[in-house]
Amino acid sequence: MDDLREKWLAAVAGAGDESALESVRVAALGKKGEISARMRELGRMTPEERKEAGPRLNALKDEINAAIAAKKAALADAALEERLRTEWLDVTLPARPAHRGTVHPIAQVTEEVTAIFADLGFSVAEGPQVESDWHNFDALNIPGHHPARAEMDTFYMARGAGDTRPPHVLRTHTSPVQIRSMEAAGAPLRVICPGRVYRADYDQTHTPMFHQVEGLAIDRDISMANLKWVLEEFVKAFFEVAEVELRFRASHFPFTEPSAEVDIRCSWQGGTLKVGEGDDWLEILGSGMVHPKVLMAGNIDPAAWQGFAFGMGIDRIAMLKYGIPDLRAFFESDLRWLRHYGFAALDVPTLHRGLSR
Ligand code: PHE
Repeated sequence: MDDLREKWLAAVAGAGDESALESVRVAALGKKGEISARMRELGRMTPEERKEAGPRLNALKDEINAAIAAKKAALADAALEERLRTEWLDVTLPARPAHRGTVHPIAQVTEEVTAIFADLGFSVAEGPQVESDWHNFDALNIPGHHPARAEMDTFYMARGAGDTRPPHVLRTHTSPVQIRSMEAAGAPLRVICPGRVYRADYDQTHTPMFHQVEGLAIDRDISMANLKWVLEEFVKAFFEVAEVELRFRASHFPFTEPSAEVDIRCSWQGGTLKVGEGDDWLEILGSGMVHPKVLMAGNIDPAAWQGFAFGMGIDRIAMLKYGIPDLRAFFESDLRWLRHYGFAALDVPTLHRGLSR
């Protein structure tokens, strides 16, 4: 009996993992195990023998069971120790840099402009960038020989030999979307049309592709006073200032009459632009009352309707708002300058925020 005890306690102690321990348990206490076999032998003993061997066998069985339970707990502890040792994390290490995308300033400013004009009741319209010569010029009262065509440094789409269709151009401004909006929706109308435009021009303040936003409002009795109010509200909200002063300078566009270029009062003191104060004037857009011929080209009766229109460069107002000196930076630079100018996420100023300042 003592041999038996020693043998099985040693086997339990020697089990290296849980499955080895389980094999020991089965070999000792399982149905065909050695201890179980001894228990069965009790039946064949005399009552005296049984009285002596029975309790000792039961005690041995309990002892082995207890040893197995203790060993099992010890093995589990050791496994946990091992995991803690090998899966240890140094939470004081700096985190790996996360690559976050940024919103391009043009997209950001387009969002800002759209949000502000949405507050003023304008919806967004879009048109094609490869535009018919008619929509880009003729419908806007710029006939074939008009000097404005040359001034706009137009990119013409190539035509195959013998192709006599009227020419297509890369649109030189967003004004053709005025015509398309009138054709599609008629009057009354209140739209802004942001998008890409193209001119063969390249220097510090010009890129061959740039962005404009067109505005068009048509109703029964719209006047330049409405134009002025809308532009003032826009400029205040966009530049996030409480007051601005706008200057309307008489100008000429074939598609508006009268026409005005609009400047805002600003200062450049210390090399940074401040809108709303100072002695400088900054030109920000072209505008005017929609020419009757343009209304007619859009199938709108100029005797019953009138409207105002304006167009401004998104790249330009983005540069002014965020102090970016070189237009080419928009398209040629990398993420470094985007970060430098702090374009981390969309943060759209609303009319109300602009006004509450
Ligand atoms: N289309 C003009 C331009 O590109 C801007 C403009 C739009 C002027 C609408 C007046 C009215 O310069």
